[in-house]
Amino acid sequence: MIFACPVCHEALLLRDARHFACVNGHHFDRAKEGYVNLLLANQKKSSDPGDSKTMIQARRLFLNGGYYQPLIAAISQLLPDFSNDGAILDVGCGEGYYIGQVECSQRYGIDISKIAIRYAAKGYRNVEFAVGSAMNLPILDNSVDIMLSIFAPLDIAEAVRVIKKDGLLVKVRPNSNHLFELKQLLYDTPQTHDISALLSDMSDRLRGIHSEAVTYTLQIANIEHIQALLQMTPYYWHATSVQQNQVSKLEELQVTADFRIDIYRLA
Ligand SMILES: C[S@@+](CC[C@H](N)C(=O)[O-])C[C@H]1O[C@@H](n2cnc3c(N)ncnc32)[C@H](O)[C@@H]1O
Ligand SMILES: [Zn+2]
Repeated sequence: MIFACPVCHEALLLRDARHFACVNGHHFDRAKEGYVNLLLANQKKSSDPGDSKTMIQARRLFLNGGYYQPLIAAISQLLPDFSNDGAILDVGCGEGYYIGQVECSQRYGIDISKIAIRYAAKGYRNVEFAVGSAMNLPILDNSVDIMLSIFAPLDIAEAVRVIKKDGLLVKVRPNSNHLFELKQLLYDTPQTHDISALLSDMSDRLRGIHSEAVTYTLQIANIEHIQALLQMTPYYWHATSVQQNQVSKLEELQVTADFRIDIYRLA
């Protein structure tokens, strides 16, 4: 167990099926779905932080269509074999789609959105999920073998604190041409993604050891899936209502999926 008490930072232990507690007597209930809420009220900037229910439901529908399966396959191939030992933590795990599918005996997921974590815990019973923030991880120092950060916010100092020496940080971001055809439909002057920032420039303890692009064409012939993809992308919410209307009537969409996976080792 790698969870830490958000109040005093001591280790949290599962006292019984429904409670976690630390040595100082701070208690946290385990919800009936199996997750624990470790986000303190003073760590929230709003009453319901993280992605909205609409975005979460859209992402669930789209991901369950299998469109990002090649990305999972690429990530899984790059991970060392930790099926017997080791802890993987997915920070900003959303509904658990990625951490739910990688092989490892100890899997953990954290997201600031309680709605997302509730779905995650219902969907993947063998993963421990907690509501918590990437900026203030309720995770013990030097406890994580592999941290995943997939299209999610990351605090480098927190990542460096919780990952073990020689452990890995796997960062997945949209690559320059990700969903470019969709942007062409929504914007007058579409821009490609800027992917220049490297995390190793932000901490001398992170060494880049691998970088690769995963690029393929998505053929989407299901109007509900097209609408779900639109709703889970920020471009849609930034477009005008005329443009939104035009694209939401599309019955078929051919669009580039372009991801970049960067792996760093903690020195
Ligand atoms: C674009 S989604 C990606 C979700 C998931 N990794 C996936 O790819 O399906 C970004 C996620 O980060 C979460 N998030 C935003 N701010 C966060 C924070 N400070 N700490 C943890 N999670 C955060 C959101 O609630 C959302 O689930
Ligand atoms: Zn405590």
